Amino acid sequence: MSRLVVVSNRVTVKTDTKAKAGGLAVALQDALQRESGIWFGWSGKTVPSQEVEPRMLTHGNVDYATLDLSRKNYAEYYSGFANRVLWPLFHYRLDLTNFFRQEYAGYQRVNRLFAEKLLPLLKDDDLIWVHDYHLIPLGEELRRAGINRPMGFFLHTPFPAMEVLTTLPTHQELVRALCAYDVIGFQTGNDLRAFCDYIVHEVQGSAIGEHTIQAFGRSFRAQVFPIGIDTDDMVRAGERAAGTGTFNRLYQRSAQRTWIIGVDRLDYSKGISERFVAMANLLERYPDFLGKLTMVQIAPPSRAEVPEYKQIRKELEEEAGHINGRFAQFDWVPINYISQSFTREQLAGYFRASRIGLVTPLRDGMNLVAKEYVAAQDPSNPGVLVLSRFAGAAREMHGALIVNPFDRDGVADAIVEGLHMPLDERRDRYFAMMNVLQRNTLFTWLDTFLDTLRTAPFD
Ligand code: G6P
Repeated sequence: MSRLVVVSNRVTVKTDTKAKAGGLAVALQDALQRESGIWFGWSGKTVPSQEVEPRMLTHGNVDYATLDLSRKNYAEYYSGFANRVLWPLFHYRLDLTNFFRQEYAGYQRVNRLFAEKLLPLLKDDDLIWVHDYHLIPLGEELRRAGINRPMGFFLHTPFPAMEVLTTLPTHQELVRALCAYDVIGFQTGNDLRAFCDYIVHEVQGSAIGEHTIQAFGRSFRAQVFPIGIDTDDMVRAGERAAGTGTFNRLYQRSAQRTWIIGVDRLDYSKGISERFVAMANLLERYPDFLGKLTMVQIAPPSRAEVPEYKQIRKELEEEAGHINGRFAQFDWVPINYISQSFTREQLAGYFRASRIGLVTPLRDGMNLVAKEYVAAQDPSNPGVLVLSRFAGAAREMHGALIVNPFDRDGVADAIVEGLHMPLDERRDRYFAMMNVLQRNTLFTWLDTFLDTLRTAPFD
């Protein structure tokens, strides 16, 4: 059987997957340990000038090859084009995009560098699977270097509507590069539709049948593969957490105090500020909850050197401080804002002890926290998931209370509905969602994507 070669910008070498690592790294870590193969990517470190060869390390079933980036490359590729243009653009934040030709050139240069350093590690029948917006041009670079074998790409973020994407001055070059892959995977039908719309209306390509696309002189597949979690593992983590001191302390206090939990990388796409405003709105309109309901928001900082992230961090601190100053009592605060990361085990305990899981991004590819919150619940007394319609997860998690995160009254009302929801209804919703989580796990995602890739090419 062919060897799997996974390439992503972010690589986590150890099994120590703290919340700050983000959905992609956690998911790939679990997936690759089962599959075995190579994981190639950025080391997370920078060097003053020239990059050297990738560092090799074997851990469990996986050979890790990680590359340090020069400060210039890091600034232009990661902090520049990837996270100040593609990330905000793909999350519909045109107002936050900052396009500079020089940074785009840096993005292309790093993709060429990745291709150059990856080439000597490849074997003839490897299956190559590239992940996320940082590395869209990598496939085209590998093709230029003579690689003809099947290559897949999975986009963990949303794919934006054509009218949004075309604001990017280099949109066509970027999409042409994407079309060098044989299988392009998206999280939801919305993303796939947006992609097909672009292909048909912007570059006069065609979408044939359900999955085949013809564009830029090639035939390839574009398909939806919604990413899942290692459901059994999260269920077990929830069960184990039930025996710990922290959990019991939280749980015992739940007669007097109810917890709402949010766990997100500190990012403007996550709607954390809107969530705080919804909490203030709830306390204004439902004063019976004063002194009884606390929102715990865990938000480890990320991409801290990018100006928009500095700004959102400042805003959230001010917002939480302002709301707490307004409503707090001597022995109670409405918002418990924590900017550190926790292990998956710790999070499972917090999820299980919280009556409401609040996942309200303004736009999100999938959002695995929504899935993890449900899996960690106690089946005999589960909590309620309040979920944004703009998270990919809303397409599958029909048992959640689906909200529009821009509607502060609506979010506050959904939280109150969740708090009053009878046990029978909570259990019905929980089992409906667990059914989905058990059918579509992380490993289903992995198998369906790889099975599709194994049938390539489609010319
Ligand atoms: C999102 C992206 C991932 C990224 C993660 C963490 O989930 O889709 O590609 O790795 O955020 O962000 P960071 O910039 O720290 O890698």
